[in-house]
Amino acid sequence: MSATSISPQLLAINGGKPVRAALLPYGRQSLDEADIQAVVDVLRSDWLTTGPKVQEFEEAFAARVGAAHAVSFSSGTAALHAAAFAAGLKAGDEAITTPMTFAATANCVLYQGATPVFADVSADTLNLDPEQITKRISAKTRAILLVDYAGHPADLTPILETARRHGLTVIEDACHALGAEYRGKRVGGLADMTVFSFHPVKHITTGEGGMVATSNAKFAETLRHFRNHGISTDARQRQRAGQWHYEMVLLGYNYRLPDVACALGLQQLKRLDVNLARRREIAAFYTAALRDIPGIIPPTVRAEANPAWHLYPIRLDLEKLTADRGQVFRALRAENIGVNVHYIPVHLHPYYQDRFGFRSGDYPVAEDAYERLLSLPMFHGMIRQDAEDVVAAVSKVCLAYSR
Ligand SMILES: Cc1ncc(COP(=O)(O)O)c(C=O)c1O
Repeated sequence: MSATSISPQLLAINGGKPVRAALLPYGRQSLDEADIQAVVDVLRSDWLTTGPKVQEFEEAFAARVGAAHAVSFSSGTAALHAAAFAAGLKAGDEAITTPMTFAATANCVLYQGATPVFADVSADTLNLDPEQITKRISAKTRAILLVDYAGHPADLTPILETARRHGLTVIEDACHALGAEYRGKRVGGLADMTVFSFHPVKHITTGEGGMVATSNAKFAETLRHFRNHGISTDARQRQRAGQWHYEMVLLGYNYRLPDVACALGLQQLKRLDVNLARRREIAAFYTAALRDIPGIIPPTVRAEANPAWHLYPIRLDLEKLTADRGQVFRALRAENIGVNVHYIPVHLHPYYQDRFGFRSGDYPVAEDAYERLLSLPMFHGMIRQDAEDVVAAVSKVCLAYSR
């Protein structure tokens, strides 16, 4: 039987029974007893802030992502700021980045007094289009700031080639992509600096938290200073050395990730592979189940990519539906499916429009995608029934709104 020959059910938004009794969020953390114990152990120890767990977490993380160094931060945003600083971004410089991201990606360029220059994305992955990057390079360009949208790695090979040719630093915002692979290599060991977030909806969590992975020792040293007021030693190193003397060598911030959070991160990191496997399973289930629903376009995966599936963003084939994205969003929420939208293109935020004069139409691929995007629930704690409910609700809503 074809989908269109089934008669539509009454949508919850119109007074029908919702697919689920309670809201399924689009993302959430999973914590177990070992996580809780790891945190409690630190609470009973001598070091709540920069203690032994910071280094342990950083070393384990660097080894996991295939980088020589990893430097922890109090958030992914702080980690981005530090990477922009280490790349040497300053007033008068430009960094090329994507509009299809969370505002923090572009904001870190502004924190340094530099100017973000957006380039449009590729229509399939919604990652930066390497040709569009090339068109935006000027004498002022100093860095390229990529995003691995939804956890699908950006097209690093041509972008790194362009960067090397022009002497630019490549920062990869991999806040969505812990555990992703590009051409068989782990995200974290590819760009000059790679930034991760440990916000609760991510692959592992420390509450708030972030990390920069790099194989460049100079960047690593600058990052460590930057997250600690620009001071060249931390309190524990001074205590160990019996020293009170310290030097401030650059203007930094207090962006430290405390020991309590690092203990949680270390424990969570042990489950990264399990979490990734579960996300990949859910993505495969969604893709197979949604492929034949009229009005739905599942996300594309390129041959060279093994995504980490932070998000599962579908696009609406609006030409096949009588409703727009806003109506479909509200109808799915009424069915108790916690859909979300990632992202309002950054250049369309009032701050960016007022400050830089951006307008609708500047980045047509990102803007067209934005009108169609919906992120379905995706987190490693989801059970089979959750994923089935999502598919049932999407299918119910699309059938009701099909042309
Ligand atoms: C692409 C991207 N960059 C940066 C961030 C900022 O990370 P955090 O929330 O840890 O500051 C996020 C957060 O969701 C993100 O999705």
